[in-house]
Amino acid sequence: MSWTLDEIPWDRFDRSRLDPEIVKLVKAASLVEYNGAAYAHHLCRIFDDDRDFQEGARRWGAEEIQHGNALARWAKLADPEFDFEAAFDRFQAGYRVDFDCATSRRGSRSGEMIARCMVEVGTSSYYAALRDAVQEPVLKEICRNIAADEIRHYKLFYNNLTLCLERERIGLWRRLRVAVGRIAESQDDELAYAYYAANEATRAYVRRRCSRAYAARAYRLCREHHVAHGVTLIFKAVGLDAHSRLARTASRLAWRFIRFRGTQLTKVNT
Ligand SMILES: [Fe+2]
Ligand SMILES: [Fe+2]
Repeated sequence: MSWTLDEIPWDRFDRSRLDPEIVKLVKAASLVEYNGAAYAHHLCRIFDDDRDFQEGARRWGAEEIQHGNALARWAKLADPEFDFEAAFDRFQAGYRVDFDCATSRRGSRSGEMIARCMVEVGTSSYYAALRDAVQEPVLKEICRNIAADEIRHYKLFYNNLTLCLERERIGLWRRLRVAVGRIAESQDDELAYAYYAANEATRAYVRRRCSRAYAARAYRLCREHHVAHGVTLIFKAVGLDAHSRLARTASRLAWRFIRFRGTQLTKVNT
């Protein structure tokens, strides 16, 4: 563990610098992060003959739980009414994935590692964007620590991907398909349901509404350099040149899309 909850300067919490929209995002993120242990178990099942990677995966799971704990503690400071335990129970009851399965949904170990890299690209860019956007000093410090962890997580999965590819040799198209598939899945229930379980429990769950409510707030935080950094990591994971003209074009298009979508969703969500 590269940092602990005790190292966070909780006494510097500044209520006057709170943004209620960001509080909602942090509550949702605390639930998703805290669910890390279940996925670590799934990775250990998929790599059942690889002690080294299992050790890395368990450490990774413990760090994700710590992210959940830090964000939940901050969310409780920001909103003393926030009942993390009840929200997490709601999240687990409504969002179910078979984490005990010994085979990856991505069809291969390499595919699983590409999908994990995509998630870490998303989280590292997201917490970097949050770190740069928030004014509240304690949350800024938490996000700085988490963003650094997420980059290390990407490296853990990328290094293991390199080892897997020595045995599996899956081609560019399959790698791209897994990557694009995993990015598209970010629109699925996990984030939308976490947003719902943390913020809207008194209403009925409507995926489209919750997914849009979450994305509108998240996209608004992103700046061009966060997107460019994410695209570089995605290109690397699928085996494409991260410094090519194609990468620069992809980065420009991704940034335009996020800016456009952020403005569009903000209009329907305010
Ligand atoms: Fe995390
Ligand atoms: Fe992570």
